[in-house]
Amino acid sequence: MNLDQGGNSLDSQLLRKIKSKQAIVTVIGLGYVGLPLALRCLTCGFKVIGFDTDQNKIEKMKAGQSPIQDISDYQLQEVLKQNHFSLTTNGGDLKNADIFLVCVPTPLKENYEPDISFVKAAADIIFDCCKEDCFVALESSTYPGTTKQVFGNFNEYKKIFLAYSPERVDPGNEIYEVKNTPKVVGTDDPESYKIAKAFYQSIVDKVHIVTSTEVAEMSKLLENSFRSINIAFMNEMAEICEHLKIDIWNTIEAAATKPFGFMKFTPGVGVGGHCIPLDPMYLEWAAQQAGHSSEFLNLAHRVNKGQPQRIVNNVLEILTQVDKPIKTSRIVVYGMGYKGNSSDIRESKSLEIFNLLYLLGAKVDYIDENVKSIIACDGHSYEGITIQEVTSDCDLLIITNDCNQCDYQAIQSVDVLIYDVINLLKSKRKNVVIYGKKDSYQNCQNFQKESLSI
Ligand SMILES: NC(=O)c1ccc[n+]([C@@H]2O[C@H](COP(=O)([O-])OP(=O)(O)OC[C@H]3O[C@@H](n4cnc5c(N)ncnc54)[C@H](O)[C@@H]3O)[C@@H](O)[C@H]2O)c1
Repeated sequence: MNLDQGGNSLDSQLLRKIKSKQAIVTVIGLGYVGLPLALRCLTCGFKVIGFDTDQNKIEKMKAGQSPIQDISDYQLQEVLKQNHFSLTTNGGDLKNADIFLVCVPTPLKENYEPDISFVKAAADIIFDCCKEDCFVALESSTYPGTTKQVFGNFNEYKKIFLAYSPERVDPGNEIYEVKNTPKVVGTDDPESYKIAKAFYQSIVDKVHIVTSTEVAEMSKLLENSFRSINIAFMNEMAEICEHLKIDIWNTIEAAATKPFGFMKFTPGVGVGGHCIPLDPMYLEWAAQQAGHSSEFLNLAHRVNKGQPQRIVNNVLEILTQVDKPIKTSRIVVYGMGYKGNSSDIRESKSLEIFNLLYLLGAKVDYIDENVKSIIACDGHSYEGITIQEVTSDCDLLIITNDCNQCDYQAIQSVDVLIYDVINLLKSKRKNVVIYGKKDSYQNCQNFQKESLSI
């Protein structure tokens, strides 16, 4: 069936409103995903209501303070001046909305099962306030079937159009933003298809329509599981290379010269953030519900989860080689966001390394211009230091992240032992030990014996 021809609402009121940008869009959940999406809708000419249950966040936003790094305070203030963006915590303010985009968290419970309580809470709010013939799109990452499960029964009470469209935003990415990242959209009936297609085509450059909400949900889990597995594989490769005394970094560079059939991933401290550590567990849970357990997903999860401890074990080996007991060591972790250029420390493996070293008795500091302070495992708040504050009383500088503001020269010139987990410096200096390059561990002794030289 040609879906563009199907149904009878081609000229429906909502389609006309979308095409003329008269439709009012509500974004539910104004975080890393929801806020950039809201601003994109505004840029494209829609009026937008931003709804969030966090009163404090809404108050700050009304005062012009952006909650996320990718949107500056100035950008938010300029948008608010135009009076097309209203902010609220009150569900009653949403009754005129034509479109609801749901961008709430989808965390894991302690037992690694999906927690879709935020999605259900958002659905309750929409159900209470939405009018007939509105369009609801779930954008939160979740297991296949969630959209139907949570929103499917709306139609028994009032007619809505429904879609799932996974959010692919990559915080900190200066090339790909909402506009130019192709949007996968899945619907389950011809009318929803037409509405969803018209709406998303009006806010992004390229829309890829799939045959059901489940395919769209699954595609997001596939993308992130693919990353999780490949990153885990490279972490495993680093371990294999260390045992075989082969340089992992040269190995990857060599393999990456193949112009087809190889995609470059590199080892590191594991995976962090709100997506890659969680989404494969959503998929594993869904598979288990259907009577299948995935060896790949579980193995990748285990390898990535164990990576901070593996790095800390290596740190202990390095410190032993320079006769420094961990309990009296001063260690600085370079990188704290879950990835470079990010202030987001959810599931940050650098933070985990910080805490593991702290619990072993080391005095630990961190450097990350994007992360002003952290709450460590002792419940206390710690502020980051600068590379200039890394003096010779520091026993080890551990590099866990890259970032745009990295002062390579300043890092290179510190007179301390460096453990470069991500091979950031690509250094041949005598004070740098590189993860996945076993022969660089002899630099521990070199560092003790020799003055720094290239
Ligand atoms: N952060 C990313 O890089 C990223 C990328 C792609 C997809 N995702 C997915 O997008 C979803 C949102 O992630 P995020 O990083 O933006 O989360 P976030 O924590 O930054 O933002 C979520 C917001 O939703 C609000 N909220 C919670 N319950 C609510 C409710 N019932 N009604 C209204 N607001 C509510 C919270 O107060 C918060 O402000 C998740 O499913 C995540 O997996 C995130």
